[in-house]
Amino acid sequence: MANDQEKEAAARASLQFIKDGMVVGLGTGSTAAYFIQLLGEKVKNGLRVRGIPTSVRSRDLALSLGIPLTTLDECQDIAVTVDGADEFDPQLRLIKGGGGALLREKIVASASRQVVIVADPSKRVPVLGKFPLPVEVIGFAQALVAKRIRALGAEVKLRTGADGNPYVTDEQNHILDCHFGQICDADVLARQLSDMPGIVEHGLFIGVASAVLIARGSEVVELRR
Ligand code: 5RP
Repeated sequence: MANDQEKEAAARASLQFIKDGMVVGLGTGSTAAYFIQLLGEKVKNGLRVRGIPTSVRSRDLALSLGIPLTTLDECQDIAVTVDGADEFDPQLRLIKGGGGALLREKIVASASRQVVIVADPSKRVPVLGKFPLPVEVIGFAQALVAKRIRALGAEVKLRTGADGNPYVTDEQNHILDCHFGQICDADVLARQLSDMPGIVEHGLFIGVASAVLIARGSEVVELRR
């Protein structure tokens, strides 16, 4: 599929940011998985890096490829993180969390000198909000938080798994998918959500991406803030 080739092309281009000896943040999702696979090939060929995964899924993939891992307990200074996104706007503000890993992704990004986002062209939007904004919430507060987010104008759905039960994140929380339509002021919304008790983290990543690599066919364009 064209989309998959574009994801792989963007992931391949991100390898230019990775240098020997670096600690690298490993994102989550199908595009980040291409990056982890390509990084695994480099490691097999002698590249020395240590990865900090943003999810159990990415940790398992990295381990299966022989990528040495470390943790935030051991290292709080990550040179580069490569991750995907559900949407990005012209200011390189992101919606993330479609894959349910937004909390660890934001923590790892916050400890990273550079955050390189790899994406296919479908993720590029003039205004954020077509993709429902994931909000990670503690189970105890989910109904209250959902009501408060509805009052901000969103349609809110509790994410469920294949078994119909609430989706549980790696940190044992739940996710509310919030359909805002166009988010006219992402900065204000981010602050409103951060101030809401019961919300652990939201999927608006503002001022986080250093660069977005976007492939169209086999050509890759680098966008900078
Ligand atoms: C996971 C994420 C992913 O990066 C995002 O959902 C994009 O995934 P994909 O590359 O599969 O489209 O934020 O929490």
